Amino acid sequence: MPKDFVTVADWAADDLWSIVDRARVLRANHRSGKRSRTLEGRTLAMYFEKPSLRTHVTFEAGMAQLGGHAILLKPEQIGIGTRESPADVARVLSRWVDVLMARTFSHELIEQLAEDATIPVINGLTDLLHPCQAMADLVTMAEVMKPTDATLAYVGDGNNVANSLILLSAVLGLRLRLATPASHPPSARVLARAGELARSSGAEIVVGEDPVAAVKDVDFVYTDTWISMGQEEEAAQRRELFRPYQVNAELLSHTDDAWVLHCLPAHRGEEVTADVLDGPRSLVFEQAENRLHAQNAILETLLTR
Ligand code: CP
Ligand code: NVA
Repeated sequence: MPKDFVTVADWAADDLWSIVDRARVLRANHRSGKRSRTLEGRTLAMYFEKPSLRTHVTFEAGMAQLGGHAILLKPEQIGIGTRESPADVARVLSRWVDVLMARTFSHELIEQLAEDATIPVINGLTDLLHPCQAMADLVTMAEVMKPTDATLAYVGDGNNVANSLILLSAVLGLRLRLATPASHPPSARVLARAGELARSSGAEIVVGEDPVAAVKDVDFVYTDTWISMGQEEEAAQRRELFRPYQVNAELLSHTDDAWVLHCLPAHRGEEVTADVLDGPRSLVFEQAENRLHAQNAILETLLTR
């Protein structure tokens, strides 16, 4: 098992399915008020270069619920790369705490922190990937049907969320269709790695530009913001470019009453209409709920194996 949770591409399918199983047990325990103090006395450091609601609260609450503790580190406080090198930050944190979760712009920074830290490093989102989100999405899909029997469509920007869904599908042998504008495809590096993984897992991953073709008869339709954190200056141009990729009732009429997924935060009237996001087939708040339990299962897996 890898030391870190930086990308699902490093993980074996069986270990990812075990995380899903454990997340479901932890969720049932949580709902019935039963606490599992499996991380008693453990400390998580959390480093955020970008804003967060879900990732921050679920990691901090998760550690508290499992008997541990979390410390929030802000870039202006510790100055990775300005006040101190990433390597030294990783080395000293490794002497004090048990696990580091980081949300950074650069994916290379997380990879570097993971290499220099002797403790596990968890990717809480980079410009390239969002693996904790993909695991919560898998837990959510598993609630309504067997993910290996499902077809998932992703419509919109070929961003970090799309990239992690591609890698997750590639490891687990899932069926995934993507529709993104030709100018904003998923990462070429991610697609190349997914191609290698799919050869042994049997995953079927189809990348195209046509939203209607992508969603035809699928079980789940996923979308994400058109303007990711750090892209605010391109907002007007992106709103125009992605308009044909809106997930709305018309697009969903080409599916077999598909479930709707979104990692949140959502922009009603942009990537998704309000009637769809707040409608009866939306699982978006289940996804948010499952962030807590998927991550608690990841933390336990990394810290108690
Ligand atoms: N989905 C997600 O990662 O949300 P936050 O940016 O609020 O953490
Ligand atoms: N693609 C979005 C995901 C937010 C959780 C972003 O990077 O801002």
